[in-house]
Amino acid sequence: MSKTYLILSGKGGVGKSTTAVSLAAAFSERGLSCAIMDGDVGLRCADLMLNMQDKIVYDFMDLCEGDCSLEDALYDVPWMGPGRVSLLATSQMLRASQVRPKDVKKITEEMKKHFGAVIIDGPAGIGRNLKVLIDASDECIMVATPDDISLRDAEKAGELLREHEKDHAWLVLNRLDPYLVRSGVISAPKDISTALDMPLLGVIPDSPEIYPAMLRRCCAYYSGDRKVKKAYDQTVSRLLGADIQFRDIKMSPVIRFFSRWRGERE
Ligand SMILES: Nc1ncnc2c1ncn2[C@@H]1O[C@H](COP(=O)(O)OP(=O)(O)O)[C@@H](O)[C@H]1O
Ligand SMILES: [Mg+2]
Repeated sequence: MSKTYLILSGKGGVGKSTTAVSLAAAFSERGLSCAIMDGDVGLRCADLMLNMQDKIVYDFMDLCEGDCSLEDALYDVPWMGPGRVSLLATSQMLRASQVRPKDVKKITEEMKKHFGAVIIDGPAGIGRNLKVLIDASDECIMVATPDDISLRDAEKAGELLREHEKDHAWLVLNRLDPYLVRSGVISAPKDISTALDMPLLGVIPDSPEIYPAMLRRCCAYYSGDRKVKKAYDQTVSRLLGADIQFRDIKMSPVIRFFSRWRGERE
């Protein structure tokens, strides 16, 4: 059964759009169709990330106003896998306060009839628009980077989800540098997941390939970094119910020795 997945975060710039587009690519590579709805009202970016900016004529607002059909407002992305990927762009002119909850619900329900998955690239923060999108989603995926600022904001956004009776949100940790975990600068993904009370869905490595890929209007999944591609493939597998374990990031014996030694001396 098709589902609507809302990609959200507390803090901006942590990789929501990167995640939304790359998850769509991973769905598509396994032959599943997928729609991406740009939910970042007034700040659209998914069209640029997908290199579709010159194709868009109708957007979410036109659809809500009845100026076009859903099929008119869906633009097929020609360069992903065998599964169909379509984009519903948001409007640059629209304000969050103008979005009608019943329109969002109706459109997402309609898209679910035509696609194996609907992925909403959500806005950062905990504004009104996010609440509307939460109510229209089946599953929420919180994206966070493993630093205190992003994690505190993720916790705050998690509280909003619970207020909206969504007490289950998956966690995707983005830009993880295993060296920083091993050296004790940041916590291990499993510990972060436990602290946030959000089950871990994916751990995406920090990669120097991703920003240049974005500049080429190509997404992280196709950036050429095999670890990134594998991480997104595994994320989609888990989303579809596969039990794929996360690799433990072990502290190096030298660092473990020194941290124990420091602990004994404190
Ligand atoms: N895993 C990663 N490694 C390195 N850079 C990344 C990674 N994920 C995202 N980025 C970069 O971070 C920036 C913000 O990503 P974006 O997806 O636009 O965030 P958001 O949608 O949350 O604002 C972009 O420049 C993107 O290329
Ligand atoms: Mg974004």
